Amino acid sequence: MTLRACVIGLGKLGSPLAACLAAKGLTVIGVDNDPWKIEAINQQKPPVNEPGLGELLLQTQGRLTAVADVEEAIGQTDICFIVVSTPSDPAGGFSLRYVEPVCQAIGRSLAKKKTYHVVCLTSTVMPGTTGGAVREILEKASGKRVGADFGLCYSPEFIALGSVIRDFLNPDMLLIGESDPRAGDCLQALYGKVCENKPAVARMSFVNAEITKLAVNTYVTTKISYANMLARICEKLSGANVDVITSALGLDTRIGAKYLKGAVSYGGPCFPRDNLALAQLAQQLGVPPDLAQTVDRFNRSQISWLADLVQHKAKGTAGILGLTYKVGTDVVEEAAGFLLAKELSSRGVKVLAFDPAFENGSRGPALAGLCFASSALDCIQQSDVVVLATSWPQFNGITAEQWSRRGHQQPRTVIDCWRAVKFLHDEPGVEYLGLGMGEGFA
Ligand SMILES: NC(=O)c1ccc[n+]([C@@H]2O[C@H](COP(=O)([O-])OP(=O)(O)OC[C@H]3O[C@@H](n4cnc5c(N)ncnc54)[C@H](O)[C@@H]3O)[C@@H](O)[C@H]2O)c1
Repeated sequence: MTLRACVIGLGKLGSPLAACLAAKGLTVIGVDNDPWKIEAINQQKPPVNEPGLGELLLQTQGRLTAVADVEEAIGQTDICFIVVSTPSDPAGGFSLRYVEPVCQAIGRSLAKKKTYHVVCLTSTVMPGTTGGAVREILEKASGKRVGADFGLCYSPEFIALGSVIRDFLNPDMLLIGESDPRAGDCLQALYGKVCENKPAVARMSFVNAEITKLAVNTYVTTKISYANMLARICEKLSGANVDVITSALGLDTRIGAKYLKGAVSYGGPCFPRDNLALAQLAQQLGVPPDLAQTVDRFNRSQISWLADLVQHKAKGTAGILGLTYKVGTDVVEEAAGFLLAKELSSRGVKVLAFDPAFENGSRGPALAGLCFASSALDCIQQSDVVVLATSWPQFNGITAEQWSRRGHQQPRTVIDCWRAVKFLHDEPGVEYLGLGMGEGFA
């Protein structure tokens, strides 16, 4: 039997997820309360900016449609994924204000449904939520019992924006928290039809899966911060080079090379939130939250430290190349380049920014008030100090001559957070500062 799936929430994660399922042959109904997103999906156009999504939607061959009504979609499908946002609350946990009404609607539909259905929560939630609030709402609204009458799973995705499709189709691991083996089998079978690799599968209780999701991301944020700390140390020691050190560290199989590059603070919609959520969970339980809190504090301090450095160097304009939290996305949430631009502006430094993600002029409200250059070259040429904050490949084509300010009294300072333009090291007209290299900084 071909599984029919429903994806509720067609945002940055939900729409690529729905497209992947449909491209792999499933019949998929997407649900969103934003009419624009429904229309986009029904016209096979991407409702969000994600590389490859447009092409993938064209491969769905009419198997993916979108509607506004959760109840209608549940009635016609065998499994649903809840992928609505779960904004952070002031204490650091995740709000259920979008999840709860969706669960109410699913419950009402399950009440009328004669066939088996699995509800899969994909949105990030605090440990205890799936087996607590989510289960209670579904059971109350449906008059049915989880495990006996319908299945419930918690299965977050470990994806990065900019590579959501590749990450979803080729995961390292499938994490499945399940109410009972039938629900877990059903979800695993669906993943089996869709994944292009043979990932390890970790099946467990809801609470273990909820903790694992936060634990994975918090481990990675700790690792990134560790490399960033090494970079800061290296800068103070003549001849030290963080890349040499982290390359050797990464050879140790207990450590591994991934996410071990000293550079800018981590950002985006998941890492900072998940780190703080684990700290909040620990605190709630009377466990010292210091480790996760310190990582968060150190991460935030990276911005003011970088701003101090720029301010020290910038007599005129500070140019920032790259505002997004990583290459391949237009998301600036908690992104180093974006936060640096805001911090410098608040200190009265004149900031000029450029990011290839906004080259066509379409910029969200978060970027209002920032001054944009027309190109990377324009940004460089108008700036006394340039910070290369996101290492977009588009910047690789810029020549040493174009970076340089030859013939000018003052060289142009280039702060290269990723050591992407190391060739500028001895370039006349350039004061090159590679982060984590112990020659440049005082
Ligand atoms: N974006 C990521 O990188 C990422 C990675 C892993 C996990 N997550 C988690 O996935 C979840 C979704 O994140 P996102 O970035 O896709 O969020 P998003 O804000 O981009 O998308 C959420 C979508 O849900 C829709 N929605 C809200 N209420 C609805 C309702 N009642 N009915 C139907 N649709 C509704 C919104 O209109 C929006 O399109 C969050 O819990 C997030 O933490 C996100």
